[in-house]
Amino acid sequence: MSDYVAAIDQGTTSTRCMVFDHGGRVVSVDQREHEQIFPRAGWVEHDALEIWENTRAVAAAALGRADLTRNDLAAVGITNQRETALVWDRTTGQPVSHAIVWQDTRTGPICDRLAALGGGADRYRATVGLPLATYFSGPKVRWILDNVDGARERAESGDLVFGTMDTWTLWNMTGGVDGGLHVTDPTNASRTLLMDLDTLQWDEDIAAEMGIPLSMLPEIRSSSEVYGAGRARGPFAGVPIAGILGDQQAATFGQACLAVGEAKNTYGTGNFMLLNTGTTKVQSEHGLLTTVCYKIGEQPTVYALEGSIAVSGSLVQWLRDNLGLISSAAEIEQLAATVEDNGGAYFVPAFSGLYAPYWRADARGAVVGLTRYVNKGHIARAVLEATAYQTREVLEAMNADSGVDLTSLKVDGGMTTNETLMQFQADILGVPVIRPVVSETTALGAAYAAGLAVGFWDSEEEIRTNWAQDRQWDPRMDPQLRDRHYRKWRKAVTRTFDWIDEDD
Ligand SMILES: Nc1ncnc2c1ncn2[C@@H]1O[C@H](COP(=O)(O)OP(=O)(O)OP(=O)(O)O)[C@@H](O)[C@H]1O
Ligand SMILES: [Mg+2]
Repeated sequence: MSDYVAAIDQGTTSTRCMVFDHGGRVVSVDQREHEQIFPRAGWVEHDALEIWENTRAVAAAALGRADLTRNDLAAVGITNQRETALVWDRTTGQPVSHAIVWQDTRTGPICDRLAALGGGADRYRATVGLPLATYFSGPKVRWILDNVDGARERAESGDLVFGTMDTWTLWNMTGGVDGGLHVTDPTNASRTLLMDLDTLQWDEDIAAEMGIPLSMLPEIRSSSEVYGAGRARGPFAGVPIAGILGDQQAATFGQACLAVGEAKNTYGTGNFMLLNTGTTKVQSEHGLLTTVCYKIGEQPTVYALEGSIAVSGSLVQWLRDNLGLISSAAEIEQLAATVEDNGGAYFVPAFSGLYAPYWRADARGAVVGLTRYVNKGHIARAVLEATAYQTREVLEAMNADSGVDLTSLKVDGGMTTNETLMQFQADILGVPVIRPVVSETTALGAAYAAGLAVGFWDSEEEIRTNWAQDRQWDPRMDPQLRDRHYRKWRKAVTRTFDWIDEDD
């Protein structure tokens, strides 16, 4: 009898394998970080072969740690950093370049040229739900075809394929050059700028305009169905691989946001708030994205509104790695506790421009309000507060787009262990912030998608039953102070605009 489901979480900073039991509890976990490659300002890359090696290692280790074998697994799910684009040769399995990571801004000129064809940044929005922005994967593929020697010819002759990291992981897990499946799911496909949100198929006109041969694109299957089985020599040999969800949609699923109006906010490398809008595709008027939330087998597509923030936890890492002010992410809480407040400093981390709700590619980071008084404790506070203010901007956009005010916020992700941040978040939002017992909702969501496909879980109702609250933070800040902080933040944001010039 198979008592467990595993998930591979191929994230931006690391790859994890987690094993869950029927109650959605964590049985085992293993994790490995991979290198963040910054070849020049604005560029961010990953070595996909390193990631595949890590995937194999964490899968074997997670089973080994809990003394399990593949026979104990009913299914495996995959979740992944979204939008990160890879092009590889289908006969050799070799990538033609590093993967271009979602935060990378090199495709700015490609996006500008497409926008100039008419319609501006919203040229494709009605079809794909997204503005033209460096964040999404389609233009990254175009960049690779334009800039890697011989890539366009090899793509046109059918040798090269494109995939986001779910597709790369699945292709390798199902055999790679030896019959690997070239498949993605609608949540990942909905982040390419190439998928029609109604039909869940590639839009041939947009692909043509972007200069991407259709033969490169993976087949779009649902988020929950048996795609194939693990390759014979791998740790999951013969186990059904049965779920794919982009990390943020997986977290939404793992948080049991399964009804219209339910939302979660994940605090990882960046911050991502998703609001389930059911089978209705809501077009945003306030800087949010319209995206696929999940598609379970043959059931109707469920959509979401999303507010994406590029930099939140990665600003804490920047404080650690680039400034050396702390030696671990967790230490920021002690440093922040050395002062009462931010001392008047506001840190707008527009490192990749600004995503929601502004979508300003021309913005770059700024620390404002500096005086001789400000010390490193204040900077630590400003770093934590930046996440909370950005979240409020997104929450206000959600409320405006949906016409309903959220009365509480479910949270998860690495930064939610930070009590100072969670209290400040509740204070700045003015609504309670709630964290579940299992904060690894990303991996859990992928496990649920896979487990539902093989009948390990019978229905989404079981996901609801498994969800349990751990902690809640209630707002206690004086509303006048809340307003003043937020007003200053909004002013600080405007100081980052218009920084990038033509010759940058
Ligand atoms: N105690 C803490 N206080 C503040 N930030 C923290 C703390 N612990 C971790 N972080 C931040 O949380 C992030 C890691 O969170 P998490 O593990 O959820 O991300 P992740 O899933 O690895 O991200 P990704 O999926 O993008 O790889 C890091 O950016 C780190 O700086
Ligand atoms: Mg993650």
